[in-house]
Amino acid sequence: MKLLEIEDLKVGFETEAFLFRKKQKDKEVLKGVTFSMEENQVLGLVGESGCGKSTLAKVIVGMNQTYQGQVQYHGTKPQMVFQDPYNSLNPSKTIGFTLTEPLRVQKKWKQAEIRKKAFSILESVGLDEKLFDRYPHQLSGGQRQRVCIAEALMTDPKLLVLDEAVSALDVTVQAQIIKLLLQIRQERNLAMLFISHDLRVVYQMCDQVMIMEQGKIIEMGDTQTIFYNPKEAYTKKLLEASGIADEI
Ligand SMILES: Nc1ncnc2c1ncn2[C@@H]1O[C@H](COP(=O)(O)OP(=O)(O)OP(=O)(O)O)[C@@H](O)[C@H]1O
Ligand SMILES: [Mg+2]
Repeated sequence: MKLLEIEDLKVGFETEAFLFRKKQKDKEVLKGVTFSMEENQVLGLVGESGCGKSTLAKVIVGMNQTYQGQVQYHGTKPQMVFQDPYNSLNPSKTIGFTLTEPLRVQKKWKQAEIRKKAFSILESVGLDEKLFDRYPHQLSGGQRQRVCIAEALMTDPKLLVLDEAVSALDVTVQAQIIKLLLQIRQERNLAMLFISHDLRVVYQMCDQVMIMEQGKIIEMGDTQTIFYNPKEAYTKKLLEASGIADEI
């Protein structure tokens, strides 16, 4: 079943050209992006810094509503997991407060049910329920990223958008979080849009990969095909720059 369908998505930002007494005009960041995602699919999104990956992510989770084109998702709203687990948690709120907030605002759940759900999700991301009453600064980076994943799962989404979600973690913690993501994917039949500049991690995580260059998807295919048999010169260049060709 299709979870997400995006057609001819365009996003532009106003430039500050008026400072130079020129006419204000739009800088087009996404230039007609079309793709869809299936249930349980892990799709990688790769491309150089500034090509528009986070802009696409923000449209999908509803953080940017100024766009042209079609964006349709079926089922519960997709949730985002960000790169920096410290800055994305409110330092003055307990883990429990942060986790339960998305359900408290819906006002259709009993307090006890929400708590129970938070405990069960903490467990499924490998955290002890005693972390419920702690503050973000009392957790390690890896634990904080697990909390961010738990927070994203509270509303039972079918799609997670992970924007460099494991990039700030050290290699061992990164490996644990990747394992956790693959595990919850199975348990919850989750789909993920996995944005990363680390091609090794993309190779490990993703079923399919999209390559973005300057606001366009220039190549898309099965992970094996993209890594072993890329068509576009730009894709080959990215693979070469990462040095991954010698390893896989
Ligand atoms: N709110 C905004 N206002 C103006 N320009 C923006 C805004 N958000 C992003 N941009 C511009 O859009 C372009 C794409 O940014 P985006 O964050 O999507 O890139 P990215 O592919 O995620 O890069 P990175 O790999 O560095 O995270 C950049 O040139 C950026 O400066
Ligand atoms: Mg980005």
